[in-house]
Amino acid sequence: MIFPEYRARRMRANENLRKMIRETNLLPDDFILPLFVIGGKDVKNPIPSMPGHFQFSVENAVKKAKEASDLGIPAIMLFGIPDKKDSLGTAAYNKNGIVQKAVKEIKNKIPGLVVITDVCLCQYTDHGHCGFIENGIIDNDITIDLLGKIAVSHAKAGADMVAPSDMMDGRVAEIREALDENEKFDTAIMSYAVKYCSAFYGPFRHAAHSAPKFGDRKTYQMDPANSDEAIREATMDVEEGADIIMVKPALSYLDIIYRVREEIDLPVAAYNVSGEYAMIKAAAEKGWVDEKKITLETLTSIKRAGAKMILTYSAIDAAKYLQE
Ligand code: PBG
Repeated sequence: MIFPEYRARRMRANENLRKMIRETNLLPDDFILPLFVIGGKDVKNPIPSMPGHFQFSVENAVKKAKEASDLGIPAIMLFGIPDKKDSLGTAAYNKNGIVQKAVKEIKNKIPGLVVITDVCLCQYTDHGHCGFIENGIIDNDITIDLLGKIAVSHAKAGADMVAPSDMMDGRVAEIREALDENEKFDTAIMSYAVKYCSAFYGPFRHAAHSAPKFGDRKTYQMDPANSDEAIREATMDVEEGADIIMVKPALSYLDIIYRVREEIDLPVAAYNVSGEYAMIKAAAEKGWVDEKKITLETLTSIKRAGAKMILTYSAIDAAKYLQE
């Protein structure tokens, strides 16, 4: 590979040559669209820090899901915003809860679309933490019991896949056991296995009303400084029965996506989170970056790093760009 015999530019001379050596091709198949559902009728509340995203009532969530499905996007991820919060997060496992209703309706109207549900307590607890709190401390083992209940209620509503995002220890095993006890053998688990304590979740917490009322999430989410720990977390979840391992956030953690892809034998998902989306939208609004190009470049980089699927608020925009 020495100049002048080798010239790297030869294979870049025109678009067809570039296509021939292109190593990563982004497709709508790669995307999972996150959606926020809220009670009421004909609700479509814009989320200011996530332009283009809304809190949807069920029938509007169905419309959005249909749009995604028609663009070739294979899956959505549902987040619920309940009417009531309490110390046990009971609205999360109520069979008439907002997520349960939305799952039923979406599976009814668009049976082929894969419906994934986020399984966590933070939107449902009055303190906004992802676990049950006793004497100011998050009780791991009571929490995973509740998570099992949430997962089962989502599965009973028809969810194809549940995605625990709480970062408690042992929750994947607990959820697998609870699902199997309820004969939900085919409900898959996408584990938020490697989830960092990140400032990039800010816009999501406005959207889902899930910011913690005190303290932070450092006792359960990972320290952004760590990489070996990501492999330990992912390995635990593989052994506990996860079907897909997620790394979250994506952009500041491409090295982690790459490592998990290399070292863990399960499909890897990456979550291109709310703050990553908001930064692009804000800069594009100011005319400082080219929104289309930067969105596709960002998603390509996440796929190139090793993600088999990408949870992204840009799913619909990107699927449209790819059609152009
Ligand atoms: C709930 C949850 C969060 C996200 C997904 N599930 C927020 C958090 O942990 O505070 C963040 C998603 C995003 O920022 O897009 N535990």
